[in-house]
Amino acid sequence: MSEVITALLERRSIRNFKPDQIKASELETIIKAGQFAPSAANQQSWHFTVVQNSDLLTRISKAIRNIFLQSGNPAYVERAKAENFSPFYHAPTLIIVAGDQKSIAPEPDASLALGNIQLAAHALGVGSVWVHSLRQLFTSEEGQALNQELKIPEGYTIFGSAALGYNAGATPTAPPRKEGTVTTIK
Ligand SMILES: Cc1cc2nc3c(=O)[nH]c(=O)nc-3n(C[C@H](O)[C@H](O)[C@H](O)COP(=O)(O)O)c2cc1C
Repeated sequence: MSEVITALLERRSIRNFKPDQIKASELETIIKAGQFAPSAANQQSWHFTVVQNSDLLTRISKAIRNIFLQSGNPAYVERAKAENFSPFYHAPTLIIVAGDQKSIAPEPDASLALGNIQLAAHALGVGSVWVHSLRQLFTSEEGQALNQELKIPEGYTIFGSAALGYNAGATPTAPPRKEGTVTTIK
């Protein structure tokens, strides 16, 4: 089987990270893979913010924790109460993907870039997980205060993020595939 197909089938979400930072060369390749994703009309509507500063990561984590605590959603509240809470599982690198709201399809563009990022990371032996909650960051004042530091361009919205680092645990097995998700018409 081709290496690409193997990577597609074997990549899993990693939620237990070593504190060691990933190599600069790995990060460069991972970002490049994101930049080479397909995009509507080749608008490349994305913007990548790489955060490797532990103080900033801690402040983002705290802002998300407070959003969860005030969400009124019992599952989120419970999760945020955990002493060890981190929306990105204490990963040493976070890549936030934002998209230009004025472009044709910013969310699909950003999602494809994130998919490439996760696959490239896997191919290089770097674990990753998609972290959805970053989308909510700017719904709180605390989160908005981080806006300038994160340098998300004006008019861009966060569509997702990937936590990255070396896997500190066992490789998870793939969840079973749902039945009945394919219709073929010939
Ligand atoms: C749009 C999207 C949002 C996700 N958000 C989160 C998240 O916030 N936290 C998390 O731990 N995993 C998140 N995931 C990862 C999924 O839970 C994971 O992909 C799924 O359980 C299948 O497992 P696998 O990635 O190992 O195949 C997200 C995945 C996608 C595509």
